[in-house]
Amino acid sequence: VADPRSVTNRPDAMVLDASAFRDAMARLPMCAVVAATMDGHRPVGMVVGTFISVSLDPFLVGFLADRRSSTLVMLLDADRISCTLLDESHLDVVEQFRRPAESRFDGLSWSVDTRHGAPVFMGTPLVVFARPSAQVDAGDRVLALFEVIDIRAAGPTRPLVFCAGRITRLEPGQLVDGDVWQLGRLD
Ligand SMILES: Cc1cc2nc3c(=O)[nH]c(=O)nc-3n(C[C@H](O)[C@H](O)[C@H](O)COP(=O)(O)O)c2cc1C
Repeated sequence: VADPRSVTNRPDAMVLDASAFRDAMARLPMCAVVAATMDGHRPVGMVVGTFISVSLDPFLVGFLADRRSSTLVMLLDADRISCTLLDESHLDVVEQFRRPAESRFDGLSWSVDTRHGAPVFMGTPLVVFARPSAQVDAGDRVLALFEVIDIRAAGPTRPLVFCAGRITRLEPGQLVDGDVWQLGRLD
């Protein structure tokens, strides 16, 4: 497999540096999910914008994590993690999660889910409970895969959307096409 960093060395490739790559890719919209677990009595978690639904059979979700992340180690070691989709009521969570790991949950409205023992935030449209399944090398990232145990989906979804360095939210009234699309193969 070619080293993705070697793109600048190929004669047919445009000259690309890390900040140009980052700025260009920032145009891709992403949501904000807090992946979290309990480390004893202490909640630990990180915001990920790369959360994806991976597989239907088996049910898998995943995200790309920085190899240097200290929180990642705990998530991969956990018996159960929660993945909470943040919506417009969770701006304080995004702000707070920029802090060092020890103080990220301070003062926020969260609780330990009684069934799964993982931290969840109040008023979220989606929580996925999962357990570590596999890790895949992905350059300077790790694709962390988790097997889904349970989901809670409730209320309207107005997730925070990060795009071009700004935070916005989806406005249901501004749909381009009102139809509900089934993604996947058309048989
Ligand atoms: C909107 C947003 C999306 C992010 N997405 C990711 C991501 O997908 N993967 C990742 O490793 N870090 C991501 N980060 C950065 C991490 O949240 C942050 O660097 C991480 O929590 C570092 O903490 P740690 O050392 O405790 O792991 C994102 C941050 C924000 C604000």
